[in-house]
Amino acid sequence: MLYKNSLDGVTESMLEGFFVDWPNPPSTGTHLKLLKNSSYMVIAIDEDVNRVVGFITAISDGVLSAYIPLLEVLPNYKNQGIGKELVKKMLEQLRHLYMIDLCCDDDLVPYYEKFGMKKGTGMILRNYDRQAGINIHRG
Ligand SMILES: CC(C)(COP(=O)(O)OP(=O)(O)OC[C@H]1O[C@@H](n2cnc3c(N)ncnc32)[C@H](O)[C@@H]1OP(=O)(O)O)[C@@H](O)C(=O)NCCC(=O)NCCS
Repeated sequence: MLYKNSLDGVTESMLEGFFVDWPNPPSTGTHLKLLKNSSYMVIAIDEDVNRVVGFITAISDGVLSAYIPLLEVLPNYKNQGIGKELVKKMLEQLRHLYMIDLCCDDDLVPYYEKFGMKKGTGMILRNYDRQAGINIHRG
């Protein structure tokens, strides 16, 4: 498995299969765009098949805080430690910052506690009509 924080050589077709169970998922092109626009990201590439099989992103003010909006590993690659490696590598990149936050379901609390994270209370807002990403024609 190759872990990278650069998108050199990564094409849309290498990003098939993510956003499992999302009713209105972003396209692979939109996925590539959000990876490019993130302040930090790490991808896991299966070099045997030249596909991205896991990714994590963070957005940051570059001074105090970062938020981790997305982490996903492709279904066929789960439970091999790829998620753990992605989180570890992302937290290494963010270690100069004060606040590192993410939201997750209750069942994943023990998963993130293993990285030293603590359970807090979050507030969220979701515009479901925007789940696939901004429509570039309508803004
Ligand atoms: C969460 C996720 C990224 C973990 O990736 P992974 O590569 O399978 O994780 P690892 O191999 O590092 O770790 C697997 C461990 O996570 C646990 N785990 C994974 N998903 C879990 C879930 N939804 N609830 C509870 N535990 C979970 C596994 O049981 C396993 O536990 P173990 O180490 O005690 O055996 C992956 O399951 C995934 O993509 N899930 C769907 C998207 C998602 O929920 N993302 C997180 C958003 S906050």
